[in-house]
Amino acid sequence: MKTAIVGLQYGDEGKGRAVGHFSKDVDWVVRFNGGGNAGHTVYDDDGREFKLHHVPCGAVFGKKVALDSGMVINLATLEDEISTLRGAGIEPDIYISENVHLITPEHLSSDANGSNIGSTKRGIAYVYADRSLRKGIRIGDGDFSGVVNATKGWLKYTSYKGLPPIRKDESAIFEGAQGIMLDVDYGDYPYVTSSSMMPSSAHRVDRFIGVMKAYTTRVGDGPPYHEDMVDIRVAGKEFGTTTGRPRNCTWNDLDQIAYALSIVQPDEIVVTKMDILKDMDNISVYKKNELYVIGNLDSYKDFLVSTFPQIKWFSEAPDGDLIKVT
Ligand code: IMP
Ligand code: MG
Repeated sequence: MKTAIVGLQYGDEGKGRAVGHFSKDVDWVVRFNGGGNAGHTVYDDDGREFKLHHVPCGAVFGKKVALDSGMVINLATLEDEISTLRGAGIEPDIYISENVHLITPEHLSSDANGSNIGSTKRGIAYVYADRSLRKGIRIGDGDFSGVVNATKGWLKYTSYKGLPPIRKDESAIFEGAQGIMLDVDYGDYPYVTSSSMMPSSAHRVDRFIGVMKAYTTRVGDGPPYHEDMVDIRVAGKEFGTTTGRPRNCTWNDLDQIAYALSIVQPDEIVVTKMDILKDMDNISVYKKNELYVIGNLDSYKDFLVSTFPQIKWFSEAPDGDLIKVT
């Protein structure tokens, strides 16, 4: 079985938890978009927390991991992540597509100085621009050691051409970064990132899982937003994994979710961070820009399941597992 896990909002839906849950029994975990702009928080079986930006979450559970076509990488950051994993006694088995583009110091300084819709300053728009201009540097180009001088020369990985070398009888999770509303085509253009949210190997995927949060958060610039709610930000610790920026927090917008579902068409949906709303009795949603109060967490759960029958899983505890809807 090959499963893709894709964000249905503006990123930060808690995909790391879903990937952790579904990757327990798989052979591979594959990243296929973005780079250091993404930040996935994942907990290993001993409850240790890892914040990963390039390495797929599956590395924490000893899976083979691939950095597939569509990704852009900063070798220095990638090496730091690998060092952290090694420091925790994990030796990741990393495969990297020859097509992956490298972020250079020029990309980073252009992003630092440019006016770029509140980007994460990781050089993302500039590396994808060079890819489109057909002048980017790919990892398959070989001698990249001079490009990123922070590279310590001990990055150990297996490179591959074309698709990741997943055998037919092996299972894989394709771990999406960001979310549909940040997709360069389907998102809130121009307030988007520069990559696609659907896997480059989508034709090999048997099952799509969409991930949404119990409420909505967004970071970076964008069109006017529903009311920002500080109590959700504090309770949900909604600060960027990559940049530490406070995220805007608001109730879910049913029209936005319906739109994302029309693009991803997931077989199953995971709703994360339900527990953050547990003490509230005025949980609400937006529909056509009108606010509708649903009530407490139990009512909200019933409402979500009846509105979106694809919902099969909830995550109710930050350190707990996903709970199957019965
Ligand atoms: P960039 O991808 O750094 O160029 O940023 C473009 C926009 O996407 C900005 O609004 C960022 O805040 C947003 N963004 C990029 N990656 C993520 C992510 O992983 N989570 C949430 N927002 C993101
Ligand atoms: Mg994130």
